[in-house]
Amino acid sequence: MKKYFQSLAYLVFIAVTFWAITKAIQVYEKPFSLYENPLVWIAVVALVLVILMKELLNIVAQKKAEDLILEKEGINPAEVDNWAWYKKLIKRWTKAKAIEEEDEIILDHNYDGIKELDNSLPPWWVYMFYATMIFGAVYLVRYHVLGADSQEMEYNKAMAEARRELDAFKATSKDAVIDAATVTALTSDSDLSRGKAVFNLNCAACHAPDGGGGIGPNLTDKYWVLGGGIKNVFTTITNGGRPGKGMVAWGKTLKPKDIQKVASYILKFQGTTPAKPKKAEGELYEEETSTETETVEQAKDSIQ
Ligand code: HEC
Repeated sequence: MKKYFQSLAYLVFIAVTFWAITKAIQVYEKPFSLYENPLVWIAVVALVLVILMKELLNIVAQKKAEDLILEKEGINPAEVDNWAWYKKLIKRWTKAKAIEEEDEIILDHNYDGIKELDNSLPPWWVYMFYATMIFGAVYLVRYHVLGADSQEMEYNKAMAEARRELDAFKATSKDAVIDAATVTALTSDSDLSRGKAVFNLNCAACHAPDGGGGIGPNLTDKYWVLGGGIKNVFTTITNGGRPGKGMVAWGKTLKPKDIQKVASYILKFQGTTPAKPKKAEGELYEEETSTETETVEQAKDSIQ
């Protein structure tokens, strides 16, 4: 009765765990990320452990049964060499001579008592050596005679293929991909209010809620450390400022769409007067398309 119960519990555990793991692999995006889904790993380890334990129990039980049979036949189980097969295998693969047989292979020179054995090369080593020779021949013919792709060529081909796929993807889904090359300034109220929310949450601490600046530069003036205009601002937010300045690369935390919105929102600060404007930093930036003829001096005057 107890035995049946054990087997049943075992089968149910295996079935349920296996089912749970398959389900998890189907459902989770990264089922084997230990950090995101530790339960999957716990289940896998538990499953393997339980199966191993069960096998171990089986082996022990079988061994006991065999010993009983041996005893019945009048043989002491302790005298049977269980490792005979293993010893034979080792002997076949090493061709090592036992110490008692060393007389057969000892060479007749003797240097101050140092003698030498004429051991044969161990077959495991010899076969590996032959394998490297075959590998070398195949390699030579494949890469130097038939001219197969080198690693560098393979890499370049894979990169070209990826670029082609990316271009095709960009061409078919225009709004899905926003990068520094395709980004445009948004103007709709909903986009700008999303931009404002992102700004107040992530950026206002350093740039002030009205863009007047603080730890970070003033965003309301026409002077930019890293370039003005939607493309430069998008790039700055995505990749961060100069090293050590405190402006991190937001591309790691914000989605390109949100970066586009917050960049569009920032550009709306242009020309406004913040409560506590920080001194202008960087260089005067003018849109390439603008026909304004304002000189640097005039611009400086208008800021002061
Ligand atoms: C920890 C403070 C800090 C936070 C938070 C921060 N910034 Fe900055 N930001 C800076 C600093 C410092 C610089 C100047 C970087 C430099 O000089 O290289 C900067 C520069 C910039 C610039 C370029 C200004 C210029 O003159 O070229 C933009 C645009 C900008 N930040 C936008 C943002 C946006 C958008 C966010 C929120 C997503 C943000 N920042 C969050 C500190 C911060």
